[in-house]
Amino acid sequence: MSGFLSYLIENGHGLPRNPLKALVAPRPIGWISTRSAAGVLNVAPYSFFNMVCDSPPLIAFSSGGRKDSLCNAQERGEFVWNLVSRPLAEKMNQTSALVGPEVDEFSLAELTPAPGIAIDTPRVAESPAALECRVTQIIRLTGLDGTEADQWLTIGQVLAVHIREDLIKDGLFDTGAAQPVMRAGYAADYAGIDAGAMFKMRRPDPGAA
Ligand SMILES: Cc1cc2nc3c(=O)[nH]c(=O)nc-3n(C[C@H](O)[C@H](O)[C@H](O)COP(=O)(O)O)c2cc1C
Repeated sequence: MSGFLSYLIENGHGLPRNPLKALVAPRPIGWISTRSAAGVLNVAPYSFFNMVCDSPPLIAFSSGGRKDSLCNAQERGEFVWNLVSRPLAEKMNQTSALVGPEVDEFSLAELTPAPGIAIDTPRVAESPAALECRVTQIIRLTGLDGTEADQWLTIGQVLAVHIREDLIKDGLFDTGAAQPVMRAGYAADYAGIDAGAMFKMRRPDPGAA
C-alpha cells in the first residue's frame, strides 16, 4: 500500500507546483456575464465558482483582486452565469484575456448577447443554459488571523433560468448531453462531462433527493 505525502501548509508542499487546485477538481466554471456602469458588456470565466445552496437558490464566484466582473456585479447589482459547453471552451478561454473594462468581451470572443428576462445583463446566446442573478452579498475574504485578503466572493440569487430545449429529456435537464467543461488540475487542464461520465447512486434514506 502506498504511503501519503502529508504536509502542513506553513511548511510547503515540496512539489514543483502547488497541488491544491488539482485536488479540488474538476470545478464547474462560472462563465460570468456582466455590464459595467458605463454600459460595456463583459464576460469572463471563474472556476472558484459553485451553487452554494438551493433555497434560496444562490450561486457564488470568487475574484482574486478586483476584476471587472466583480466591479460590474457590485456596481449594477447583477450578473449572469453561463454554462460552458465543450464547443464553447475556446471562446470561454478567449474571454479570460486580461483586457481593460472598456473592452466588450462579447465582441472580443464573437459571442452574441441575449437580453435578460429578469435583469438588465445579457446572457451568452450560444451557451446552452444560463442563470440570471441579483447580487445578495459581496464578501471580502479573510484568513484565520482575520487579515483581509485581496479575494472577493460575490453571491447572487438566481431569478431566471434559461435552458436550451433540446437538453430537456422527459422533463429532466440532461447534464451529459450539455457537455459541460470543468476546470481541472493545473494551468491548462480541463475535464469534460458527457453521457458516459454520468452514473446513478441512490441515497440510503428512502425519499431523499
Ligand atoms: C477556466 C478559468 C477559470 C478562472 N477562474 C478564476 C477565478 O476563479 N478567479 C479569478 O479571479 N480569476 C479566474 N480566472 C482568470 C480570469 O478569468 C481573468 O483574470 C479574466 O481576465 C477576468 O476578467 P474580468 O476582469 O473581465 O472579470 C480564470 C480563468 C480561466 C481560464
